[in-house]
Amino acid sequence: MTIAITGITPSGTPHVGNYLGMLRPALRIAREHETLCFVSDLHALIKVRDPEAVRTRSRELAAMWLAFGLDPSTTTLYRQSDVPEICEAVWLLSCVTSKGELNRAHAYKAAVAANADAGRDADAGITAGLYGYPVLMAADILSLGAELVPVGRDQAQHVEIARELARAFNAAYGEVLRVPEAAVDPGVATVPGLDGRKMSKSYGNVIPLFAEPDELRRCVMRIVTDSRPPEEPKDPDDDTVFRLYREFAPPDDVRAMQARYERGGIGYGEAKTALFEALDDTLRAPRARFRELMDEGGELDRVLAAGAVRARELAGVTVGRMRAAAGVA
Ligand code: TRP
Repeated sequence: MTIAITGITPSGTPHVGNYLGMLRPALRIAREHETLCFVSDLHALIKVRDPEAVRTRSRELAAMWLAFGLDPSTTTLYRQSDVPEICEAVWLLSCVTSKGELNRAHAYKAAVAANADAGRDADAGITAGLYGYPVLMAADILSLGAELVPVGRDQAQHVEIARELARAFNAAYGEVLRVPEAAVDPGVATVPGLDGRKMSKSYGNVIPLFAEPDELRRCVMRIVTDSRPPEEPKDPDDDTVFRLYREFAPPDDVRAMQARYERGGIGYGEAKTALFEALDDTLRAPRARFRELMDEGGELDRVLAAGAVRARELAGVTVGRMRAAAGVA
């Protein structure tokens, strides 16, 4: 069976955008492939300087996978930093990485462009960690021997770089690494946030996945809508409340709501209440499970420890071969 790998960076508290954009598709993939799921806490260090936040958010993300039904007996769930072989692979790969390739990586280019706009030195505030981000991501994929990498469009370039580095390593040292394939999911529509822009922690417009019902309701009520009265017909595809509702409500309810938008006759207050209820129905059980899992020293820690053992077995084999091939074993 094909080995798929999926990682998520713990740079914020899990929100509805993570669920729709990443978690839900990944859970589907985990049912069809042998899957490795990990929390990329080393990637988080590029942005997050608060150690307690890194630790807590990493546990939250791992708990999120389990709370939504990831089965740790068939999927390997681990924390990137528990697999030191990945860091060893970073160096071995760095030595076959052309610097020019990293110059062209989107995240770095965006940071350079932001500096240019602000009239600062091109590399102001840019760490070697940000610059090397794609190499760490390639090491995640290649050292575990993953074959399939399901990603959103924004990460496709990183998988392309991982393929490039696998080929470069193999060209230097023989056929050691598998060249992975990206599975870019074009179907994941942008998830709108409270203000209608893409839901993103950097815009402060997220709906947290594990908020208590009161807070969840308050969040939904804050969704920005226009001032059209209930009777006026509205384009459902152009409305944040409906676009979220259709992801969570049962299909029959979605069709009925869509018809009311198109005909006129539903106000935003009523639509928001329906959205809150659909969200709460979907999230109630995972929320309870999440709270249980977050208890220190319990099931979550056992799952992560077992995941680390399994991931290290896989990485140990591949990185062992890389070392031998390069003459450092
Ligand atoms: N960079 C990815 C993101 O921010 C997370 C990630 C890190 C990843 N390493 C990976 C995803 C390896 C897939 C495979 O979304």
